[in-house]
Amino acid sequence: MTFLQVNHLKVYYPVRGGFFRTVIGHVKAVDQISFELQKGETYGLVGESGCGKTTTGRTIIGLVKATAGEILFDGKDLTKLSRREFAQHRKDIQMIFQDPYSSLNPRKRVLDIVAEPLRNFERLSPQEEKRKVQAFIEKVGLHPESIDKYPHEFSGGQRQRIGIARALTLNPKLIIADEPVSALDVSVQAQVLNFMKDIQKEFQLTYLFISHDLGIIRHMCDRIGIMYRGQFVEEGTKEEIFQNPQHIYTKRLLSSIPNADPLKRQEQQKLRQQIEKEYEQSYSRYFNAEGRAYPLKRISKTHSVAIP
Ligand SMILES: Nc1ncnc2c1ncn2[C@@H]1O[C@H](COP(=O)(O)OP(=O)(O)OP(=O)(O)O)[C@@H](O)[C@H]1O
Ligand SMILES: [Mg+2]
Repeated sequence: MTFLQVNHLKVYYPVRGGFFRTVIGHVKAVDQISFELQKGETYGLVGESGCGKTTTGRTIIGLVKATAGEILFDGKDLTKLSRREFAQHRKDIQMIFQDPYSSLNPRKRVLDIVAEPLRNFERLSPQEEKRKVQAFIEKVGLHPESIDKYPHEFSGGQRQRIGIARALTLNPKLIIADEPVSALDVSVQAQVLNFMKDIQKEFQLTYLFISHDLGIIRHMCDRIGIMYRGQFVEEGTKEEIFQNPQHIYTKRLLSSIPNADPLKRQEQQKLRQQIEKEYEQSYSRYFNAEGRAYPLKRISKTHSVAIP
């Protein structure tokens, strides 16, 4: 059985207007996407701002309602479950948020922050709870005495570790990480990312990793889906996407990665201009009259591209 399977998912947000705030249209944040996650892998969702990455993650975890489509997990369609039934699965799917400065309640101690999911699902005595929280806090590389402190007493990287400790307490199967390091200093980013890789092995986690940073995606992901305006334009293994991109949008996205080597910058500038030209010239081959992408077509066992 596939670990998680998303089929033809649509998420439309109503747009309201006028005096009576009636619905005058819809934002198609996610428009007919299908993909699956295999157990233990890291699947990356990439695309420019507003393409629907966060909406996809939030829909899987039940924070946003699907307009249509299926999300199959553990043999059940999560989109069809009642609130009570869904709560059972909430244990297995956890989220790590982008901004460790605002995602932790500033008025709560670390103990209460990390213990919150536990309190919802398990009945532990205060001693058991404290021991468990301390163990997780140590696991993420913080001092066990940290549990009595407040979020403002930690650095950004440390706060993200607290967020990760909270996500781990219920022994989840899937972690949705939405831009987990983009609010952090570059020097701390690698630490947190490598730490996420370490715990992935130890806790046998599957990651849905959301980022607009292709360097990070390359470092973290086994397979990648490229999103453009709520749709997928390409999907493949890391190697296929980075070494053999097929869709013009993927090529354009890749050409925008800054090159650290100053000697190669001029070369890259040229490549970027060339791809920009190709993008303009071949746009109508890759997108229909309404500017929508075509359905994905398989070009190898693992590689699919949205071409007519
Ligand atoms: N609650 C909402 N109500 C209405 N529209 C929304 C809502 N949330 C998101 N949108 C719209 O849905 C689209 C997709 O948003 P989403 O946050 O999923 O993008 P994203 O890929 O995560 O972008 P970013 O990289 O900036 O985080 C955008 O056009 C956004 O404006
Ligand atoms: Mg987002």
